[in-house]
Amino acid sequence: MKVLAINGSPHMDEGNTAIILNPFLEGMREAGANVDLFYTRKLNIGPCNGDMSCWFKNPGECGQKDDMQILYPKFRDADVIVYATPVYYAGVTGPLKNLMDRQLPLHMLGELGAKRQKIVLVSTCGAWEMSMFEPLLVQMKALYTRSDGNSDFVGALLRPGADGMREMMKTKGRGLVEGILQAAKEAGRELVKEGKISEEIQKQVSRELMPRDAYYEAAKEMFEQIKKSMKE
Ligand SMILES: Cc1cc2nc3c(=O)[nH]c(=O)nc-3n(C[C@H](O)[C@H](O)[C@H](O)COP(=O)(O)O)c2cc1C
Repeated sequence: MKVLAINGSPHMDEGNTAIILNPFLEGMREAGANVDLFYTRKLNIGPCNGDMSCWFKNPGECGQKDDMQILYPKFRDADVIVYATPVYYAGVTGPLKNLMDRQLPLHMLGELGAKRQKIVLVSTCGAWEMSMFEPLLVQMKALYTRSDGNSDFVGALLRPGADGMREMMKTKGRGLVEGILQAAKEAGRELVKEGKISEEIQKQVSRELMPRDAYYEAAKEMFEQIKKSMKE
């Protein structure tokens, strides 16, 4: 099984998104998958210029010769595509959106999903509420569950309240966060072995780390301290 994973966080392996993505990919590797991981931050990928030359002038070919040229064959070959992103204003990060838009030449030739592909979303957000992921889920489902399409949206690993995870790792809440990382790894194994990620495992990745009020109270205290230090 060939997996193409794109991490759209500017923080790459230091970010919250990688805290969930990396054990997920590890689980897939352990189960025998061949995983290729790219970081949008390291890639030079410009926005689509919308001239449609990839459809009407040079079908299937993008006129922009940047790092997208490295990814085109990888998108064609992948059995599984993993989009990983922090939520930025209720959507994917700008660089990841650029990369997604630039898949247009593959759609022209029907090459994206020429073989049936599985699509996974991995995302983290600052808000405590799961509802923050809804726009992203709508986008992914609209793109990847079309009746005339050739791809299956097979699950999402969504971690709300992600800004609390690192601090919790330093406290007695550590065990809870570790349980989430174990679930992310198990999701990777499941996907390779069973072709999907169970609802149960997806729920474990999203499960509550602390009550809503305690989370926002901790955030408020942090902001107060920052403001105080600015005044000093
Ligand atoms: C520009 C920007 C926009 C953001 N927008 C949202 C948002 O709309 N909703 C939310 O819950 N968190 C938002 N966040 C917080 C991030 O989604 C959250 O901190 C995420 O876990 C960061 O992941 P990373 O460390 O992998 O980059 C935003 C952060 C930034 C920098």
